[in-house]
Amino acid sequence: MDPVPFRQALLSWFARDGRHLPWRATTDPWHILVSEIMLQQTTVASVLANRRFEKFLSEFPDLQSIAIAPEEQILAAWEGLGYYNRVRNLQKTAQTVLEDLHGHFPKDAPDLQKLPGIGQYTAGAVSSFAFNRPFPIVDGNIARVLSRLFDDPTPIDTTAGAKLLWHRASFLLEEREPRKFNSALMELGQTHCRPKSPTCLTCPVQAFCQTRFPEALPVKKPRKKFLNTDEHALWFQRGNKLLLKKGDQSRRKGFYHLPLRSAEELAHLEPDTTLKYTITHHRVTLHLYETQNVPPAKDELWIPFHELKKLPISTPVRKIINQRVPAL
Ligand code: ADE
Repeated sequence: MDPVPFRQALLSWFARDGRHLPWRATTDPWHILVSEIMLQQTTVASVLANRRFEKFLSEFPDLQSIAIAPEEQILAAWEGLGYYNRVRNLQKTAQTVLEDLHGHFPKDAPDLQKLPGIGQYTAGAVSSFAFNRPFPIVDGNIARVLSRLFDDPTPIDTTAGAKLLWHRASFLLEEREPRKFNSALMELGQTHCRPKSPTCLTCPVQAFCQTRFPEALPVKKPRKKFLNTDEHALWFQRGNKLLLKKGDQSRRKGFYHLPLRSAEELAHLEPDTTLKYTITHHRVTLHLYETQNVPPAKDELWIPFHELKKLPISTPVRKIINQRVPAL
């Protein structure tokens, strides 16, 4: 494929039809970084609808504001987005840039990649979107576009597949307009080159596309199975206080959770409700026991209802609390 007319077709389409998105209206690297990390967690539509980008940045408009914030505040600001280590890494990155780099973000992808939580994709995104530097990006959208353009059945989630994708993204990149080019390639995946029912007839780069079966691409290796687990949690309320435990295991670090017990300890009780939620590779069935008779453990705390709102609490537990304490 000749990259020159491809770039031209893609860029003129994007100049005409590209969406105006809040993070495309800025070149502040901190703002771009926040948008990219946020968009790894949730869809563009949901970030826009809930004004998550604007809300987060009004609380943490610059590196200084997040660098000095207590952990509970950053977790609460990220609540509902999941993968909370990512917001911890945002804070670490802010601290590193301030302390080690005189407050100046690195401009090139390889230097950005040395910062906590910044991988090849995020480094390329910040480098190209904030600084207009010629580094490629490959996210899920671009991987789909490229595997169709080159009609390549190599599974995209393998080392070999990733290598090919990054090579092709770099081969196609318009080095004079990396900001626009990377945005355009991503936008193509979000608008025309959709996973199902791609709109090839109106696609601006249809003439360059080598596949006849776009819906069969990209190929991925077989998915890992989920593990089923059970949790037995207490709803232990005294007046206007609820017994909670501050998480210490790795996957709920810093988050408050309902007190958990073994199934044996609660064998004499009937659960009031059960609910299911998914976290990483676990499908959890949570059995909830309303009780006054189970002794609290040492590290469990009585939290007044009015403090619940501002504490970091995992999404499934937040739902239970909202149902049972409606006035919150
Ligand atoms: N998804 C992730 N990053 C994005 C961006 N910069 N624009 C649109 N969608 C995105």
